[in-house]
Amino acid sequence: MIFRVLRWIGLTLLAGLTLLVASSCTMLGLNYASLETANKAAPIPPLDVARLQTPEGRAAGMRMLEDTLYGPWPVGLPVSVGDWRVVNPDYLEGRGTLEEVDITIGEGPGARTFQLVAAFPAAAAANPLVISQTFSSNCATFPEQPVMSEDGDPCTARDNGPMVNFIVTQLFGEYIAEAPVGLYFDAGFVYASFHAGDFIPDSAALAPGAMAGLGAEVNPTGTLMAWAYAFSAAMDVLESDPRVDTNHTSVMGHSRHGKSAMLAAIWDPRIEAVIAHQSGFAGSALSRSQTGETLARMVKTYPHWLAPGAKAYAANPDLLPFDQHLLLALVAPRRLFLGNARRDVWSDPNSSFRAAEAASAMWEAYGKPGLGQGGMQAFDPSHGLVWWLRVGGHSIVDDDIPAFIAFLKARPMPSATSSPGELPSIAAPG
Ligand code: GCU
Repeated sequence: MIFRVLRWIGLTLLAGLTLLVASSCTMLGLNYASLETANKAAPIPPLDVARLQTPEGRAAGMRMLEDTLYGPWPVGLPVSVGDWRVVNPDYLEGRGTLEEVDITIGEGPGARTFQLVAAFPAAAAANPLVISQTFSSNCATFPEQPVMSEDGDPCTARDNGPMVNFIVTQLFGEYIAEAPVGLYFDAGFVYASFHAGDFIPDSAALAPGAMAGLGAEVNPTGTLMAWAYAFSAAMDVLESDPRVDTNHTSVMGHSRHGKSAMLAAIWDPRIEAVIAHQSGFAGSALSRSQTGETLARMVKTYPHWLAPGAKAYAANPDLLPFDQHLLLALVAPRRLFLGNARRDVWSDPNSSFRAAEAASAMWEAYGKPGLGQGGMQAFDPSHGLVWWLRVGGHSIVDDDIPAFIAFLKARPMPSATSSPGELPSIAAPG
């Protein structure tokens, strides 16, 4: 009896603590994002769309991102791959297989290895691919599957504690950890996933050393860029797989991983579409906006996400020679889904919408439909630049998944790979 009481006290304290941490990092979402954009500032400076379509203009835009906020894309950082291991040959009652592979990025003693898990539908044909980067361990993303844990052992309660999982999903949605792979199978996709922190830890204390030790001439200096590179490494692994139609590869991430998903698409022309869900500051939200998190708070809490020099810009975003509409525009003409929620003011949907409005001209310039005219509450998943706003907060909930899939399935998809002339080719992956 006494143990049961102590257990409940412990669990209540754990729940309270989690709530406290969650509220300090995502501000529980008690307010509503404003839906009015006409009375707020348009992003500055305006985009020079014609110049951004030239190789020089595009290169200059990418250099600006590297030199101010994100640090360098680690060009040439070696990627090596192990052999696929079949985790479950009868995954989802025989609908496909679940497999995993070791990916090593870097060389020498500081090279880092993480596991990519992929679910392949049983179909004989090559299928389009979605690569998801997650907050959660692979153990939590694929619960009950014998995937490998971060430390190379079988998953234990430490990797996927049911109680912690319960609390996290209550706060951040049913799909914040577990991947709804069956729904992606229904839509005909190969679903690949990795835990970003297994490559570079999401830790201010550990990340700088891990990045500096990767052993390349140009190492990343911010984890967002490093995690973006990991998407590219996953592409390297999957692009030669006959089960994958790599002309149709999308990347997706929530929040910090939505930021890195967009960076990946900017530097890796093999990526055809991006889902950046609630990416917020240093993602789709305008750096000069004072609503929500702000860059200043971000660099204070997560100094390892951006390059060390970003602090000066975070303290005074007016110093930035661009705002985040440039980042969105550099994803074009690849398709981009910006997910938002009305109570997720921390991620600042209102300034994200203004950024999207300003970037929309870039898709139009490539002859693709941009944002559409419906305002912040309209959703057209077939456009080049897609806006999604739902009720609720900072989370991945079951309403989000059909929206993601509708976007992924909307065809014809403009393909960077199938029409290489379209994207000024200046950045080679890896
Ligand atoms: C924090 C952080 C955001 C980030 C989010 C997330 O809330 O302040 O910038 O997007 O974590 O990754 O969930």
